[in-house]
Amino acid sequence: MILEIVKYPDPRLALVCEPVERITPELRKLAADMIETMYQAEGVGLAAPQIGRNIRMLVMDPGWRDQERNARAIVNPSVELCGETIISENEGCLSVPLGYRAEVPRSSMVRLRGLDLDGNELDEIVEGFPAIVLQHEHDHLDGKLFIDRISRLKRNMYDGKVKKWLKSQA
Ligand code: NI
Repeated sequence: MILEIVKYPDPRLALVCEPVERITPELRKLAADMIETMYQAEGVGLAAPQIGRNIRMLVMDPGWRDQERNARAIVNPSVELCGETIISENEGCLSVPLGYRAEVPRSSMVRLRGLDLDGNELDEIVEGFPAIVLQHEHDHLDGKLFIDRISRLKRNMYDGKVKKWLKSQA
């Protein structure tokens, strides 16, 4: 089932999400719907608050545009930065309107821990583009968007465009 994607400046995107307490059939169904929604929107990742659920779960498939689809869901992820700072070029987000993209400083490598949908504990080192996607999606679970990591000047300019756009929709 395709879910509706929550868009900035919806305040639900700014909340810190609650840990998942139990992996249930309902949670697995939600993950499957999030994956379907992500592909339909042509994204490489999606976090639960983006579909209006305030829980710590994300789905991702960083390589599906070039390779076969290989989506995974991660429950209660922790993402520890352990690389050098790199610039993620052209970062965008399905929840950030107007197709806005910007450069964002990220870590080149992360240590990912969490659970898969079978309850297995994960502990992996992730590098490159998948590491950037993980940092981006994990930020959502803490109520953070990539536009919270750009310069004040760029952010003000973007907020001005969004305001205008919202007005034109009203
Ligand atoms: Ni996003």
